[in-house]
Amino acid sequence: MLNDKIAKLINEQVNKELYSAYLYLDFANYYADEGLDGFAHWYEIQAQEERDHAMMMRRYLIDNGIRVMFGEIAKPDKSYTDTTSPLQAGYEHEQYVTSLINTIYAEAFAIKDFKTMQFLDWFIKEQGEEEKNAEDMLRKMELFGHDAKGLYALNQELGARVYMPSATGPAM
Ligand code: FEO
Repeated sequence: MLNDKIAKLINEQVNKELYSAYLYLDFANYYADEGLDGFAHWYEIQAQEERDHAMMMRRYLIDNGIRVMFGEIAKPDKSYTDTTSPLQAGYEHEQYVTSLINTIYAEAFAIKDFKTMQFLDWFIKEQGEEEKNAEDMLRKMELFGHDAKGLYALNQELGARVYMPSATGPAM
């Protein structure tokens, strides 16, 4: 059985991960509308990964005897002024998610919940990768995205992303 506060934080994080999926699908909708199908594809896959994260946390709660409770998933609240702005918003969002995961980790550390710390280790690493990916995409867009050929190449590159289920995540 998990500590109540830890269970509540992870339950809330399930919602945040589902919101992340919803937000990234919103990015994909925007890019599809702009004719940038590679960018849209990249964010469709990112949305799948976020759903995987939510499912991993849901499973962890269930396996620890917690009744998972769903709340509303908020409407994506970003506005896009140009084709770079979702990338900027995505980078900032991942930094925010890292802060949420860190908060749960700090709480687990404070009460010596080593099991939850071990569970969260995967997410700590994942957040490092996601922040790096988001920052790299933003930098590439800033460097090459203002030129038609550069934007075309970037769209091709992002369109080649392949979905990899988060099977290497924590044991469920
Ligand atoms: Fe599930 Fe992008 O963090």
